[in-house]
Amino acid sequence: MKLVKPTKKYEKSWHEALAEFRAEKRKGFWNLEKEPTNLEDYIKLTKDNKIGKSLPKDWGPSTTFWLIDKDQFVGHTNIRHKLNDYLAKIGGNIGYYIRPSARNKGYGTKILELALIKAKKLELQKVLITCNESNIASQKIIEKNKGKFQDKVLGEGEPKLRYWIEL
Ligand SMILES: CC(C)(COP(=O)(O)OP(=O)(O)OC[C@H]1O[C@@H](n2cnc3c(N)ncnc32)[C@H](O)[C@@H]1OP(=O)(O)O)[C@@H](O)C(=O)NCCC(=O)NCCS
Repeated sequence: MKLVKPTKKYEKSWHEALAEFRAEKRKGFWNLEKEPTNLEDYIKLTKDNKIGKSLPKDWGPSTTFWLIDKDQFVGHTNIRHKLNDYLAKIGGNIGYYIRPSARNKGYGTKILELALIKAKKLELQKVLITCNESNIASQKIIEKNKGKFQDKVLGEGEPKLRYWIEL
């Protein structure tokens, strides 16, 4: 299992995963209205985001990786290099998403473990991870990766739990 930069190599399973994301009708992690569903454009966007270009509102420069297992796209993670006001309260340094058909098999725990190694390489010393109060799976993932609970904050939508992980 490994994290890789978005690449044409896993295009077929990436498209299959996109269809699953779409069917899930979930907002937030993958903005289907705004993010390209053409892989070449998507790869360009992730390269731009890394250097702070074409960022979503309230975001900062960020790096995206894909989790690959047995040559298949399983999920993605986005590492934000620096916290701003919005990220410090709501978004945190790291987000992750596992495709629906691959959930509850340990991939969520693994993607955060591997993202922490990447964050360290990006010279972060500690990372803030947030999750919705109702997201039990994410809370378990953060705690299994040594997340220390800080507090619960109110903002847009559901209350968020904030955790810190030392790298
Ligand atoms: C949250 C998410 C990443 C979990 O991924 P996953 O691959 O299912 O996670 P894991 O298999 O590593 O499971 C972690 C733990 O949560 C538990 N779990 C998984 N799905 C669960 C669910 N729906 N309800 C309650 N617990 C759940 C697992 O049993 C496991 O518990 P354990 O440590 O006691 O064994 C995935 O559901 C997802 O992508 N959700 C949408 C995006 C999202 O919420 N991202 C997190 C942002 S903070």
